[in-house]
Amino acid sequence: MSDIKTISGFSKLSKSDKIKWVVKHFYKDPEQVMQELMSWWHRDEEQQKLLDGFSENTISNFPMPFGIAPNFLINGKAYAVPMVIEESSVVAAASSAAKYWMDRGGFHAQVLGMKKVGQVHFTWKGEMRKLESVFEELKTELRKDAAPITANMEKRGGGVLDIELVNFAHLEEGYYQLKVTFDTCDSMGANFINSALESFAKTLDRFISDHPIFDEGVERDISIIMSILSNYTPECLVRAWVECPVENLGPFSSGLDAALLAEKFRKAVRIAHLDPHRAATHNKGIFNGIDAVVLATANDFRAVEACGHTYAARDGQYRSLSQCTVENGLFRFWLDIPLALGTVGGLTKLHPIAKHSLELLGHPTAEELMMIVASVGLAQNFAAVRSLVTTGIQQGHMKMHLANILNHLGAKGQEVEKAMAYFDGKVISFTGVREFLETLRQKQAAKVV
Ligand code: MEV
Repeated sequence: MSDIKTISGFSKLSKSDKIKWVVKHFYKDPEQVMQELMSWWHRDEEQQKLLDGFSENTISNFPMPFGIAPNFLINGKAYAVPMVIEESSVVAAASSAAKYWMDRGGFHAQVLGMKKVGQVHFTWKGEMRKLESVFEELKTELRKDAAPITANMEKRGGGVLDIELVNFAHLEEGYYQLKVTFDTCDSMGANFINSALESFAKTLDRFISDHPIFDEGVERDISIIMSILSNYTPECLVRAWVECPVENLGPFSSGLDAALLAEKFRKAVRIAHLDPHRAATHNKGIFNGIDAVVLATANDFRAVEACGHTYAARDGQYRSLSQCTVENGLFRFWLDIPLALGTVGGLTKLHPIAKHSLELLGHPTAEELMMIVASVGLAQNFAAVRSLVTTGIQQGHMKMHLANILNHLGAKGQEVEKAMAYFDGKVISFTGVREFLETLRQKQAAKVV
């Protein structure tokens, strides 16, 4: 029996026919949904074609807010940072932390390493000692065969840094890896790494099958399981930090003493080091900032997230990515995070807005972008923890929440102003705001009559 909600050949339909099929089968008001989806098509056909080319089966575009967090002073240079994020308060919090630290020396950042990683996973029943004895020979072959792929990257100053043989046979019978480190310069390098690894896999297979050191039979029998980059790049690492004398942390409108704030802040970060439940939320706050800049520059936020969370669990327990000390009257707050980012290649220059993001940041190198992104992550974390240990997070959030509810209920001009004034300091709920607006509107209507 055929299910009308499934289809074969969807990808071959025209874009309009794809929409028609979707709205007909999944919506109560197909015509209206179709109009709305089509209203988000770009008016310029060429631009729309470009966007459609990024993915498959596209039927429309999905708008996200593109905001700016100004006043980021990083290593003495001022940036206005582009952020793409749908969560209210994030850009406001980043901007507030940027301004706060601008008056206290700004953010400092340093790239600690740029190494990317890729692996060829294989199984083999031969004698490891023999493979090790000819490994230098194998490495020469691997590099020689991959030269057409690596030549261009080498001209740019990067390429294959090292190739190691890793023995996992104690964990899984006959399982080994070629673990390869790369320098991909200003590109994220995924395509380059994967192409090089696939070349390595072929060479490895041939080498084992042909080399006279290996006996006929099982020793010639290698099975390549897979060749793929690793998104865990702990040596593609950046540190961002802020510091100032404790007394310079104030004054605070809440009247909180600077020394008390420093201590509560330090404890809050320490708690995120000790407790994975808090660590996940703490790090989520960091990624609020990081992902927003990563998206705005058309970098791969899934890769960045996967890597960051793996790094956060590097000692076996998931912990805070940031750390804080209060020693000898000095408040120090820092973030170490691996970030595999690119400022060339991928969508960085193709995406119509991402290229403007990069221009806004002054066409940064990958290293500079790593420092900017880490600083925004730290700023976001600072703003969140500062709110948490002082006023609580809801105060700021609720203002934005109220604005969203008012928007949803179609409030305009005076209605918005009156609602903002009325709910100042009060608990905000959707029902409460709706009732407030209804009463206001009834009063207005009565006046008009
Ligand atoms: C909300 O998106 C992020 C926070 O929960 C982060 C934190 O708790 O540190 C506020």
